[in-house]
Amino acid sequence: MDKTRVVFDPAYTIAPVDPRIFGGFLEHMGRAVYEGVYDPNSRHADENGFRRDTLGALRSLKMTAMRYPGGNFASGYHWMDGVGPKDQRPTVRELAWQSIEPNQFGTDEFMKMAAWMDWTPMLTVNLGTGMPEEARNWVEYCNCPEGSRYADLRAKNGSKDPYQVKLWCLGNEMDGPWQLGHVPADLYAIYAQQAAKLMKDTDPTIETVACGTCSISLPTYIEWDRTVLEYMGPYADYISLHRYVGNPRGDTPDYLAVTNSIDQQIEEMDAVCRFVQARSKSKQRHYLCFDEWNVWYRYRSAEHINGSGKFAPHLIEEQYNLEDALVVAGFLNSFIRHADVVKIANIAQIVNVIAPILTQGDDMLLQTIFYPFAMYSSRRDGIALQPSVSGPGYDSPSYGRVNTIDTSAILGDGVLHTFLVNRNTSETAEIEIDHGSGNLESILSAEVIGGSHPNACNTYENPNVISSQPLQTVKINAGKASLQLPPLSVAAITFRTG
Ligand code: AHR
Repeated sequence: MDKTRVVFDPAYTIAPVDPRIFGGFLEHMGRAVYEGVYDPNSRHADENGFRRDTLGALRSLKMTAMRYPGGNFASGYHWMDGVGPKDQRPTVRELAWQSIEPNQFGTDEFMKMAAWMDWTPMLTVNLGTGMPEEARNWVEYCNCPEGSRYADLRAKNGSKDPYQVKLWCLGNEMDGPWQLGHVPADLYAIYAQQAAKLMKDTDPTIETVACGTCSISLPTYIEWDRTVLEYMGPYADYISLHRYVGNPRGDTPDYLAVTNSIDQQIEEMDAVCRFVQARSKSKQRHYLCFDEWNVWYRYRSAEHINGSGKFAPHLIEEQYNLEDALVVAGFLNSFIRHADVVKIANIAQIVNVIAPILTQGDDMLLQTIFYPFAMYSSRRDGIALQPSVSGPGYDSPSYGRVNTIDTSAILGDGVLHTFLVNRNTSETAEIEIDHGSGNLESILSAEVIGGSHPNACNTYENPNVISSQPLQTVKINAGKASLQLPPLSVAAITFRTG
């Protein structure tokens, strides 16, 4: 394969990388909460019932913003059901996933977990079956000092100090016909604006995320977003995007080119934000909150999304392989390259449900996608640089022309973090990294995730088939680096710069 030359010139900056793009998402769905992060019956449970094993693994992903409690679940959830003495909380029928919800984990348990994990809580209010006032009351419960009804209730439930939840999602996927309480864009905009007004009147420091189009294939794509943003104006700080991708035809090179389409989705949504700003002659620019993203295509059928009236059913427990790990790296490359517009992103989800971590009784498995997230998240501090790539590429039937090497970089304090995906399925890539007007002085760390087959995955029997390993092929000469990157692999290399 011809050599690829990547230039990351320190003069060509994009924007500081918002740490919140390394967020996660915990939904009351399947075994995400119960048997996932909360399981008083597990031998791993601490005194709160929190699973030390899964939370310990999640800790090494250094997640930032954590979205809760849904998802589709949020559109039928009444937060008051999940607070107060546990033996007095109602068990309810959960309609989004047709499950039974015992409400043994709710706001106070989530806040305790978030504080312990160093997550920034991000709550989704119910704008499906709930009213704006219920959302407002939740803000008071979480954020106001004692002295009024819901703040006093929080104190009575054990938390004297407010939780200071800054980020609030105004419903979930309200453009989707499957959503409880789905309405047309103009009606959603009215509800969301009213809710945001009440919520911001209760705590003016909060930031709100309006529901944007949740699937690029919906007929209302983009028009929904324009309508919502134009109506809401300053009552929305961010607009949400969702994206689940997959490889249903088993065409690996085509699948790995999906990053073109992720870039395009981000750029189209940003174009709407700029259009609305220009048309309304506003000083305010709306930014993007990519609050659900991942690979999800194998477990889409009824038995994987319908809990059949059970508690903690096995729902969408997708098993991930090597090519999925490279696609996860591709999402992160795209977010870094769009650091000027993507300010928050949440991988969906964290345990059991389309997740980097699976549990089986007291056992735990780290899936392939765990490793790229960890690799990127531990190198996230700094300013995104504009990559210039020259080298081989190919035409993908679904997504157009791509470079064989997909890349991004973050310039930190005296360090350069580089991320490289080799999309070639059979050949090692020769790569030169040029720091432009800067110099690469030494290699601080270099890791690679790769394997012999795109379908290689970790199982309980063979848990370490795919993991991150030291990358030994990087060399520095005259301020530039050269390396060999195996086929179907992703690398993260941190250099000391001069
Ligand atoms: O993450 C699983 C589900 O996918 C979420 O509940 C919903 O928002 C999306 O459709």
